[in-house]
Amino acid sequence: MSKVILNTWDRALPACKAPNAESIENPCAQLLKQAGRMPALPGRALLIMIAAMLFASAASAQQPGAQLFEKSCYSCHNIGSGDKKGPDLKGVLTRQPKDWLREFILTPNAVYRRGDAYAQQLFKKWSPEVMPDQALSPDQIDQILALIDDLSKKNEAFVPAGAKLSRAIVPTDIDAGRDIFTGRRGLSTGGASCNSCHSVLGIGRLGGGTLGPDLTAINTKYKDPELIAILQNPAFPVMKSVFAARPLNDEEIVQLFAYLQNAKAAFPAAQATPGAIIIEPWFIAVGFAVTVVALVAMSFIWRKRLR
Ligand code: HEC
Ligand code: HEC
Repeated sequence: MSKVILNTWDRALPACKAPNAESIENPCAQLLKQAGRMPALPGRALLIMIAAMLFASAASAQQPGAQLFEKSCYSCHNIGSGDKKGPDLKGVLTRQPKDWLREFILTPNAVYRRGDAYAQQLFKKWSPEVMPDQALSPDQIDQILALIDDLSKKNEAFVPAGAKLSRAIVPTDIDAGRDIFTGRRGLSTGGASCNSCHSVLGIGRLGGGTLGPDLTAINTKYKDPELIAILQNPAFPVMKSVFAARPLNDEEIVQLFAYLQNAKAAFPAAQATPGAIIIEPWFIAVGFAVTVVALVAMSFIWRKRLR
């Protein structure tokens, strides 16, 4: 069986990122079915286990712009597989002239402030998210634009070559990931723990910080490679300021990924924050009630685990 997966996976990987990835006509979904997706396992978790085990060597030859794009832009943009925090960049070279794009990518805020009509519209549409200025050379920007142009013309979606786990997930990773998330186990490089800015339902009495969005349902917002890439290279300004110089190591990424992938299972009603950060006043008001429910749920889950 695993031979079948290996042989067909290269073809199916782009399909896993297509908007219809869950649909039955999609080759990725078909492959997962072939792989004997068991109803008891969450599909995404199985997908990533296959991914981690079998495609580590499947990275195709990369264009020069691909690595740059993955590191600096992919947290917020896809090419050909849908909007994220910013617009899908597929076909952007047919929307705006190259010189405009060069200037915008480097200094989006200055282009907006000088009253450029297209930038005004973009900022309005994507508010409150704002693209940060980029520290890239003209050559690097041209490499990224060449990548976008090439994929758009070939009608292919960007597939991040580096966004893979270093090993398969095992069940104990979920608890280990929670310990990292809550700061019970410090990060190897001494970066701030995730819960100083984020909460996940069920992490304990005090919850987490609210500078960043709640991450309980994050596995419904991002596809697996998208979430792995955020853990590897978060390009959001606040997180970048913490983690650019102190990146998570491979083990921390596997364990945090396993934890975040499973956080929603205990709280099926949780919703991911759409777009950017919104801190709802009701969140504080009901925080206490939620915590009580969370504690009860956790002791229920743990009871099962101890058997
Ligand atoms: C933190 C998120 C974020 C990052 C990182 C980011 N962008 Fe953006 N980008 C946005 C948002 C949001 C917009 C919409 C304009 C706005 O509100 O700032 C945008 C708009 C754009 C546009 C105009 C799109 C259109 O439809 O006309 C281009 C081109 C672009 N970004 C390229 C890039 C490139 C290239 C990188 C990496 C070097 C990058 N962006 C990094 C968030 C981001
Ligand atoms: C200093 C504060 C801070 C810390 C520490 C931090 N983050 Fe973030 N994070 C943010 C902010 C702010 C955003 C929202 C960025 C935006 O909307 O542009 C964010 C966004 C995210 C997102 C995307 C959320 C979404 O809804 O799109 C993920 C995933 C994430 N963080 C994971 C983590 C993990 C895992 C850790 C711990 C290793 C962590 N963060 C640590 C501030 C932080």
